[in-house]
Amino acid sequence: MAEEDRRITELRAIREKVRQGGGADRIKRQHSKGKLTARERLDLLLDPGTFNELEPFITHQLDEESGANRYLGDGVITGYGQIDGRTVYVYAQDFTVYGGTLGEMHGHKICRVMDLALRNGTPIIGLLDSGGARIQEGVKSLGAYAEIFRRNVQYSGVIPQISVLLGPCAGGAAYSPALTDLIIMVEKNSYMFLTGPEVIRTVTGEIVDPETLGGTDVHQSVSGTAHLVSKSEQDALFLCRKLLGFLPSNNVENPPYINPVDDPLRMDEELNSIIPLDPSAPYQMHEVIQRIVDQESFIEIQPGWAQNAIVGLARIGGHSVGIVAQEPNIMAGVIDINASDKITRFVRMCDCFNVPIITFVDSPGFLPGIDQEHGGIIRHGAKVLYAYSEATVPKISVITRKAYGGAYVVMSSKYLGTDVNYAWPSAEIAVMGAEGAVNIVYKNQIAAAADPAAERERLIQEYRRQFSNPYYAAGAGYIDDIIEPRETRVKLIASLAALRDKYAPAPPRKHGNIPV
Ligand code: HXC
Repeated sequence: MAEEDRRITELRAIREKVRQGGGADRIKRQHSKGKLTARERLDLLLDPGTFNELEPFITHQLDEESGANRYLGDGVITGYGQIDGRTVYVYAQDFTVYGGTLGEMHGHKICRVMDLALRNGTPIIGLLDSGGARIQEGVKSLGAYAEIFRRNVQYSGVIPQISVLLGPCAGGAAYSPALTDLIIMVEKNSYMFLTGPEVIRTVTGEIVDPETLGGTDVHQSVSGTAHLVSKSEQDALFLCRKLLGFLPSNNVENPPYINPVDDPLRMDEELNSIIPLDPSAPYQMHEVIQRIVDQESFIEIQPGWAQNAIVGLARIGGHSVGIVAQEPNIMAGVIDINASDKITRFVRMCDCFNVPIITFVDSPGFLPGIDQEHGGIIRHGAKVLYAYSEATVPKISVITRKAYGGAYVVMSSKYLGTDVNYAWPSAEIAVMGAEGAVNIVYKNQIAAAADPAAERERLIQEYRRQFSNPYYAAGAGYIDDIIEPRETRVKLIASLAALRDKYAPAPPRKHGNIPV
């Protein structure tokens, strides 16, 4: 065999070894758990034939005496490829090699693609499946995590960072996703915790299985850590591709525009009668959103957590927008601690990535109660104020019904810097609802009346005439226009077009001090 042929044959053999990861048995074990291998996942995530691998020959640098097998690639596949023709950098942890755990060189590979993503202004996507810090490498593993976390933070708001959790994500493998923009999990197969069941049993004596400790049910409805949950790995990777379509490649670009199939001039007659005449009867804000945005374009984020608030990405007239709203069907759309956190985080993500924010308001205000006050509703609610005031992207609000008290102010009100404020004729803008207000302001008058119940009712009707409509607020300049609900889509498209070149530089500073 000619020398050149021998070299090529050797390279091909080594490459094949790289592809084998932790070996055929472990790949079989991975498949038997209903999980794909890291390479199969990359094939599903990226446009066909676009993946280019980097640093596949890296191995750990432990001494021979450690006895640790030297797997090529060190348990993570890194490189770049394309999603819908746009470049992305990726890493996929290989659970067949040391359970996808992170050591010095594994961490080096991840940092390398993160740096390349930043340098080239492209998103970075992590496919995680990992037991966390690699025990055999001690402090080197911990240091490697710190290197990743620092990059997660420094690149936050510069390039989109998406984490897809496709297996266990323990310890450090949970903290890195928590620092990224979006986390997608898969039912049954992915879970996330800082310390695993074994450690918990030793330290606290509690017995818990991984699913109960940190499965999708927990993170989508209790902790709020997961942004989206899929039924299968295939769905999760498809979702990741789809989400990226709403975001620009970096913070100086605009999100991709897609030629709309839905008519920009479409009016929706049903919207004119969607708000019930009874002010306390609920309706579905989800339906309002679906009727206004481009058909089938709405992806709700964190749909299972703090359901009294709605956040999600959609398109209007082909342009990407962030939607924030209340769901009056759930706790009357009140704003509580979790809803505050949900809204804040989403508003800030949109603002980082030049996604205009459209806010639909129907809320009786902040949730009263000792639990909420002691839990820090002041601090959490203040975050919503902070996020809306700080955001410089185009901001438009539509008050569909209640905008009482704090809810009026925090939900993208005019003097927080919102560009266009619309109200539907059903809007009720006041310091509080009629019953509460009358009981406070006219307490003595009602008590002194010959028929207190009738007097109270009369005062409630009077209050409603004055405040339970948008005309008082519009007359004082707090609302830019009162529109028919059916024309909301058309108005939003026109407003967004007029705000496309919005220039609102923030005063120079190191960074603000959001009340976290
Ligand atoms: C080295 C590890 C490992 C680890 C798993 N493995 N965790 N190797 N360091 N941390 C190896 C196993 O030895 C095994 O090797 C392979 O990975 C698969 O693990 P299994 O236990 O067989 O798989 P499974 O039953 O699916 O359980 C997966 C698991 C469990 C839930 C992740 O292994 C586990 O609980 N590991 C520890 C998780 C943990 O507490 N991590 C926290 C680390 S501390 P073989 O050779 O058999 O294939 C941390 C601190 C960071 O991360 C701090 C940041 C702030």
